[in-house]
Amino acid sequence: MGVTRLINIGKLYGVTTSNDPKRGSDLAEVGVVDNAYLDMYQGSISDFGPMADLPDVSVQSVYDVEGGIVYPSYVDCHTHLVFAKNREDEFVDRINGLSYQEIANRGGGILNSVEKLREMSDNELFEDAYKRLTDLIKLGTGAIEIKSGYGLNKESELKMLRVIKRLKQTSPIPVKATFLGAHAFPKEFSDNHEGYIESIINDILPAVSNEGLADYIDAFCEDGYFTVGQTDQIAKAGNDHGLKSRLHVNQFKSFGAVQMAAENNAISVEHLEVMTDEDVETLAQSGMFGVALPACSFFLKIPYTPVRKLIDRNIPVVLASDFNPGSSPTGNLNFVMSLACIYMNMLPNEALNALTINAAAAIELENEVGSIAKGKRGNVVVCKHITSINSVPYQFGENLISDVFVNGRKYG
Ligand code: NIG
Ligand code: FE
Repeated sequence: MGVTRLINIGKLYGVTTSNDPKRGSDLAEVGVVDNAYLDMYQGSISDFGPMADLPDVSVQSVYDVEGGIVYPSYVDCHTHLVFAKNREDEFVDRINGLSYQEIANRGGGILNSVEKLREMSDNELFEDAYKRLTDLIKLGTGAIEIKSGYGLNKESELKMLRVIKRLKQTSPIPVKATFLGAHAFPKEFSDNHEGYIESIINDILPAVSNEGLADYIDAFCEDGYFTVGQTDQIAKAGNDHGLKSRLHVNQFKSFGAVQMAAENNAISVEHLEVMTDEDVETLAQSGMFGVALPACSFFLKIPYTPVRKLIDRNIPVVLASDFNPGSSPTGNLNFVMSLACIYMNMLPNEALNALTINAAAAIELENEVGSIAKGKRGNVVVCKHITSINSVPYQFGENLISDVFVNGRKYG
């Protein structure tokens, strides 16, 4: 397999020399080469530069970008991609006036997904998730994190994580797995929350760890779900098994979760719709990534993460889809970029960095993906008919992508 060459790139975005996450005013800095070429060889970016310097090497295929733009594929660092079924009936319940929490309190929500997932075979789950993944790759996603959390017992959590392992083995893009046994209390433990925590720590987690099924551990730290104390126990147990935590915190309430996450050296805190000044300060001192999920805010009509405050405090800000059937039934990161710009006042350049190099670092894939650099995977997005990244968030709801390249080859 020879070189794949992209020529006449009006703007090649996302060129980096450092893989460090971008913070503060640096978040708006995107390396660009105008009127560029990009060579990919054996799956990786092998060369790039101005068209004037086009090297004379033997090339297997040439793709003409016709003056359009190319940028590094998105990295989605927070998804619940493996799930049983959509929950569009709950969507209608919400239109009729029920809140996300009210739906959960009457047995819907996460527990509704759990009931359905427990009945599904691993093959069915895999096929559905693979199809979703294929669709996302076409929408520009070039690496992804996937959580468990709809099994909530040993058998079904392992089933989910084995499906994620199969996705890792078969997907053309990198996949990271997160164990989210502490997503909700299953109905068997509705009156015995401590019993479920014990079962996670002493039974499910050791099995997950033995099989090497997870890269990270997560918990939904929220009123009605896991308390700060319970999440602390889960994070510590994860640490004992060598799993860093990435935690769902401050979606509906602020009650000390960011502080607890910092004490446990969590890699990230995610959601952050409700943040006090003290939470922002703790996050700024901690070095943790702050992950905003604007599609969840949009869909549930809850506040958006105060991203500008996070940027002002030099917190490495990341954007992700939170793709799941309850609070964000889309994994379309082009739309996430629009929401970030429209509702959180992020500049398109800031949103691009938050979805690429910063997101890659948040799942420890910054040496592999997230920017245009020699040796990184040849995972890039081509938009032939626009001339600036600004058009991507501006033309919300449109699919402007002409082609995606995965491992140096045109995908699909
Ligand atoms: O990140 N907040 C918790 N978990 C998901 C929602 C899961 C569901 O409703 O199925 C989220 O929003
Ligand atoms: Fe989530």
